[in-house]
Amino acid sequence: MSTGAEASRVRVGVIGCGGRAGSHLHALARGSGSTVVAVADVVEAAARTAGERWGVPWYTDHRELLRRDDLDAAVICVPVFAHGQIEGDVAARGLPFLVDKPVARDLATARRVAEAVRAAGVWASVGYQLRYLPHVRRARAFLAGRTVAVVEGHYWCGTGRAGSWHNDWEKSGGQLVEQATHTVDLMRHLVGDVEAVYAQQARRILTGITSPDAYTVSLRFVSGALGTLSTSWAHDPGDWSQANVLHLSLDGCLLRVDGGGASLLPEGKEQLPEVDGPDMYAAFCAGVRSGRPAEVLSSYDDGVATLAVSLAANESARSGRPVALAEAVGA
Ligand SMILES: NC(=O)c1ccc[n+]([C@@H]2O[C@H](COP(=O)([O-])OP(=O)(O)OC[C@H]3O[C@@H](n4cnc5c(N)ncnc54)[C@H](O)[C@@H]3O)[C@@H](O)[C@H]2O)c1
Repeated sequence: MSTGAEASRVRVGVIGCGGRAGSHLHALARGSGSTVVAVADVVEAAARTAGERWGVPWYTDHRELLRRDDLDAAVICVPVFAHGQIEGDVAARGLPFLVDKPVARDLATARRVAEAVRAAGVWASVGYQLRYLPHVRRARAFLAGRTVAVVEGHYWCGTGRAGSWHNDWEKSGGQLVEQATHTVDLMRHLVGDVEAVYAQQARRILTGITSPDAYTVSLRFVSGALGTLSTSWAHDPGDWSQANVLHLSLDGCLLRVDGGGASLLPEGKEQLPEVDGPDMYAAFCAGVRSGRPAEVLSSYDDGVATLAVSLAANESARSGRPVALAEAVGA
C-alpha cells in the first residue's frame, strides 16, 4: 500500500538517457517529490542501462513510453538537433515537461513547440538550473531597481576536444547555442532582454571539429545596459572555474556571479539580500502537483528568447553585421 507521501510523488518519464540525463535521473529518483517510472532512448543500450540502473521499464521509442497511463510529467534530455517531435508528442499526451537547454537548434522548431504546448493547454520548463541557485537568487534580488552599466561574461572550458555531436556545428549550433547558452540565459535573467548583438567567431586552436573555438559577442540590452560575452572551449578540460562567470558594473560597486557564488566589491559596503527558494526539480514537481508552475524560473518561452540571442550572435558573426533581436533569426 502506498503512503500519502508516495502517492503525492510526481511520476516522471525520462526521454534521452545520455550523459546529462544521469544528473536528472539521480535528482528525480532520489528527490522526495518525484519518482522515475520509465525511461526511453533511441539507443537500446542507453535505454536498457538506465532502466536497469533505476529498476524501471525502458523503451527505444518515446511514443511507447507515452502510452503508459501512470505518467504525470516528462523530462526530455536529448541532443540539440533532436528536439521538436518529442515535445509535440509529450504536449499532445497532456503532460507538462522539463526540457534540457537549449530548446532547439533553430527558432522555427522552438516556436512550433511553444505553439504545441499552448495548444495542448500544458506548460513546459527549460533546464536553466543556474537560475535556481541560492546565490543567483540573491544576486537577482540585489539587482532589482538598480542600473547596470555593463555586464561582462565568459564561458571558457575545454570540452571542444570531445569530438561528439556537441562540437558539430550542424548538430549543436556551436558553443553559444549548446553550452554558453547558460551564460546568455544568466545575463538575460539578471540584466533583462537583449535588443541587439554584434558578434565574431574564429578558429584559433582546435582542429578536427566543425565549430569555431573562439566567440565574442557585444550586446545591447533593452534596458540600455551594454554587455560583452566571450567563450572558448579550447581551455584546459580540467578547469571549470571559468564557466559561466559574470561581472556586472553598477553605480559604485561590482557584482561578480559565477557557478559557485556571488560577491560584491568593494567588500563590506553592501550585502546581498538573503533569498531562498526550491531547486529546479522541486519547483518543477510543485508545478506538476498544483497544475501551476508558480515557482518555475525558466518557462519554455524564456528558453526560446535565450536561444534567439545565441542564434542572432551566430547570424551576426556570419554576416559581419549587427543583428536586432526583433528580426527573425534562422539557423
Ligand atoms: N544543463 C546542463 O548543465 C547540461 C549539461 C550537459 C548537457 N546538457 C544538455 O542536455 C542535452 C543532452 O546532452 P548530453 O550531453 O546528455 O548528450 P548525450 O549525447 O550524452 O545524450 C543524449 C541522449 O539522447 C538520446 N536520443 C537522441 N535522440 C533521441 C530521441 N529521439 N528519443 C530518445 N532519446 C534520444 C541519445 O541516444 C543519447 O543517449 C543537450 O541539450 C545538452 O545541451 C545540459
